[in-house]
Amino acid sequence: MKGVILAAGKGSRLYPVTKVIPKPLLPIANKPTLEYAFDQLKGCGINEVCVVVGENEGVMRDALGDGSQFGLSLSYVRQNDPKGLAHAVGFAKEFVGGDDFVLYLGDAIYDQPLAPFVVQFQNSGAANLNLVKEVEDPRRFGVANVENGRIVKLVEKPAEPESNLAMAGMYVFGPQIWDVLPDLQPSGRGEYEITDAIQMLVDRGEVVVPGVYEGSWFDTGTLDSFLATTQFLTGSGQLVDESAEVDAELVGCVVIGPGVRVRAKRIEDSVILADAVVEVDGEISGSLIAGEVTRSGDLSDVILHGSME
Ligand code: G1P
Repeated sequence: MKGVILAAGKGSRLYPVTKVIPKPLLPIANKPTLEYAFDQLKGCGINEVCVVVGENEGVMRDALGDGSQFGLSLSYVRQNDPKGLAHAVGFAKEFVGGDDFVLYLGDAIYDQPLAPFVVQFQNSGAANLNLVKEVEDPRRFGVANVENGRIVKLVEKPAEPESNLAMAGMYVFGPQIWDVLPDLQPSGRGEYEITDAIQMLVDRGEVVVPGVYEGSWFDTGTLDSFLATTQFLTGSGQLVDESAEVDAELVGCVVIGPGVRVRAKRIEDSVILADAVVEVDGEISGSLIAGEVTRSGDLSDVILHGSME
């Protein structure tokens, strides 16, 4: 079993911070986002992992190297155009060879181990297992219909979902997936959808099973979800690196990275990343900050990097 992590996205919903630090490297609770993926894959007994990178390739290679610092062997392939998840997976074909593999969306974080789903896949004889989770509003996800323990239909972001089982960002595949990818057509949003590729497996009569996940699942791609994930991982607590100099009252979930110097009246539910220098004569709340910020007044609900007067 091998691992493939998709991490080529531009992180545009977290601009401008992700112009400086690629989203997969953004620390969440002072640990790079991708390290959560590495830990999950290691927990599945996987030690060979391919990261699909994009424009961020150089920074990613520099930061993650050959993976030995994480106890993994890492290799990289590059997807230049963001044409969808199935398109991204295609770049990992040579790496995967004839093996089974776990496909992990790089901005997903789970609080429960995924290893049981790999075991479920191996015991099922299926061509594919999809992690699914019941959600209140499935319209912004791929949605799976399950009958008699098998997935019989999948629709990407349906306007009128037929079930509340969202596809939750982790998939286990056998080699059958490589047979269908060449015939995949772009979806309405112009992307090669992994959801559609899996539907093709179903249409060919392959066994496709759901892995029902009941823990917490976060996608860290927006400011709100980034802060919510941080809050969850720190238990709403505070994490201040010992090398940081902080002169402020800390309230709620506040994470301050190494080398930060910050002066403010009060900081509430915010993340300040490594080496930032922040001088604010008011309060900081609901914000993600990298770089240098000097400002009079309050900062609230913003993502910042660089200088700001
Ligand atoms: C992608 C998948 C979707 C899945 C979601 C999980 O959506 O296409 O099926 O439910 O990830 O986060 P995207 O984030 O590309 O909109």
